[in-house]
Amino acid sequence: MTSIDLRSDVMTLPTQGMLRAMTNAPLGDEQEREDPTVLRLEEELVELLGQEAAVFVPSATMANQLALLCQVQRGQEILGEQHSHMFRYEAGGPAFLAGAVVTGLNGDAGVFTGDDVRRIAQVRDSEHRPRTAMAVVEDTHNVSGARVWPLGALDELYDTCAELGLAVHIDGARVFNAAVAQRVPVARITGRAQTVAVCFSKGLGCPAGAALVGRADVLAPARRLRQMLGGSLRQAGVLAGAARYALAHHVDRLATDHALAREFADRLAEADLPVDPGTVETNFVFMDLSATGLSRDAARERLAQEGVLWSNAHHPGVLRAVTHLNIGAADIATAADRTIRAIRAARED
Ligand SMILES: Cc1ncc(COP(=O)(O)O)c(C=O)c1O
Repeated sequence: MTSIDLRSDVMTLPTQGMLRAMTNAPLGDEQEREDPTVLRLEEELVELLGQEAAVFVPSATMANQLALLCQVQRGQEILGEQHSHMFRYEAGGPAFLAGAVVTGLNGDAGVFTGDDVRRIAQVRDSEHRPRTAMAVVEDTHNVSGARVWPLGALDELYDTCAELGLAVHIDGARVFNAAVAQRVPVARITGRAQTVAVCFSKGLGCPAGAALVGRADVLAPARRLRQMLGGSLRQAGVLAGAARYALAHHVDRLATDHALAREFADRLAEADLPVDPGTVETNFVFMDLSATGLSRDAARERLAQEGVLWSNAHHPGVLRAVTHLNIGAADIATAADRTIRAIRAARED
């Protein structure tokens, strides 16, 4: 029996078409700005995101940390939803690398408001309080279930930050999912930010690669800082070729991942499993076992024995399944059968 792997959209393997694009990509030394595929990718990203400059990097984590190093001074504060990937899952990078003070805000499905920022931000120099430099928007928001920032809330945040003189950084590791779910060009989400991190190795299906995109003046030191972090690659066109292929072929199809996630959630909810389809906005499905008396580790093991792989979500008692490029409609039908069987069996144990 082959397991259906729903642990994460980072598990995707490159398609034949992507491998061909990687093999055929013209290459050069990217540190010397001689890799034509990286140069072309950066131009495309600037256009697509409604921005001015772009820097290719190996991972979204590096893109996020680079965004801080470019525009936050040591001892300054950054605000964002308290469970943001940058704050909780990047090994303390904001403190260790940029020397930033991180203040986590309560969010609703990952979303906070301009008023939340206004209440906390210190926008003038103070002898006591750290000056606030930036607000971080994670769209989609991982820990809350790949939820999408409503455009109205985003506009309000941009307006508030512009008024207060704060930068906005979008952690857009899954921002193409957000744009597809909202049926808007991605620039509608990213165009007003100072910096945006995008990632190619999640729903877009590349083996590696990300970029920091943003205002030209903000990104002026980015290449030097990337060199300092060890993120300047040589023939990076092999990866940029995959990314260019993904932008051309794997963005619109994210709608299929979203539809399959919703279908999966509907099936599980109809079978009385603790899944709320109403929270499925993109490609994550959560199953909250906390009220069932089942241990999630035991349940996850049972699911794996039945041939469907879930992962632990951030919140205790919650399991996560993610649809992606390598998962089709037949996989979802089988994964739903297996999940229902496994959880029923675990309940009877
Ligand atoms: C919202 C978000 N930002 C950033 C990252 C970091 O991505 P990477 O693993 O490419 O560094 C992730 C990874 O899951 C993420 O979910």
